[in-house]
Amino acid sequence: MTEISGKAAVVTGGGSGIGMGLAKELARQGASVAIADIILANARKVADAINAAGGKAVAIECDVTDRASVKAMKNAATAALGPIQLVFANAGATSFDPLVEMSDDDVDWIIDVNLMGVMRTTQAFLPDMINAGGGHVCATASMAGLLPGWIPTHAPYSAAKAGIIGLMMNLSIELGEHGIHTTSYCPGGVATGMKQNNAKYRPAKFGGPGEGEVHVSQDSIDVAASQAFYTPEAIAPMVLDAVKHNRAFAFDHPEQRVHFRTTYSDVVEACYDATDAWEQEHGVPDANPTGPVLLQPAG
Ligand SMILES: NC(=O)c1ccc[n+]([C@@H]2O[C@H](COP(=O)([O-])OP(=O)(O)OC[C@H]3O[C@@H](n4cnc5c(N)ncnc54)[C@H](O)[C@@H]3O)[C@@H](O)[C@H]2O)c1
Repeated sequence: MTEISGKAAVVTGGGSGIGMGLAKELARQGASVAIADIILANARKVADAINAAGGKAVAIECDVTDRASVKAMKNAATAALGPIQLVFANAGATSFDPLVEMSDDDVDWIIDVNLMGVMRTTQAFLPDMINAGGGHVCATASMAGLLPGWIPTHAPYSAAKAGIIGLMMNLSIELGEHGIHTTSYCPGGVATGMKQNNAKYRPAKFGGPGEGEVHVSQDSIDVAASQAFYTPEAIAPMVLDAVKHNRAFAFDHPEQRVHFRTTYSDVVEACYDATDAWEQEHGVPDANPTGPVLLQPAG
């Protein structure tokens, strides 16, 4: 079990939406919380609300696409709350444009903020968690990362979110001996301001903030319209339950189980049937005679 009460937590992207819901629920369950966001005014509003309700929170400006900013945020959070043992790497941004229509800046931004942002945040807090002998990293991925074919025209975003899942699953093995666990939270539809506010988060090096909603294709609207969008407040306790039980994944839409099962059982059977057939026709590929290493040393 991972304890929430009495622990210090950080939530990136905690100034709105899912991150705000997580920060408030963490505080309600007895954690102190550093709310890190690229929009400091929003982080302050959330911290003020938590403090006014009797909890303990600090607001810290942070751009997760900038390693120095993440390190400074880590130092500020630790100075205010002590060593952090609960890390919610949640900051993210989205795009529903076809890859061929996206600017180079937007492609780089979507990969950087979603995947590298989680990587940098996790890396910054790991040494303290290892020293403390335990902790938990919960990264906000997406059902778009788990089922990349489900929502159309979402390619860089789906790739980044799939990367987060790989990062969390592999880290759980690396960090097991330190008592550190990981969770990939895969939202499947949460009512937040992401669509309206997204461009306001774009850092200067990726073209700077813009105005206007994210363009969403009709195909993607059709997928979204087929399901409920839950509130961040409603899903936060579900996510924290997964963290408390050290579950590798947290989902919020149980009915999406059917997409998951169909996608993976179809992929697994089709791929391995084809591989079996290839081997029957061509024979089993030659194995390296000296085992799982290169035949010739480099140089
Ligand atoms: N809402 C959904 O249905 C949904 C579905 C799947 C995944 N997600 C993921 O959930 C996470 C939270 O999104 P949300 O829906 O709450 O949207 P949101 O727009 O309300 O929240 C995103 C937060 O991240 C912050 N942020 C953006 N770029 C940042 C940066 N470079 N550094 C620090 N903070 C930054 C924003 O200021 C904002 O507070 C994202 O990672 C998103 O991809 C959301």
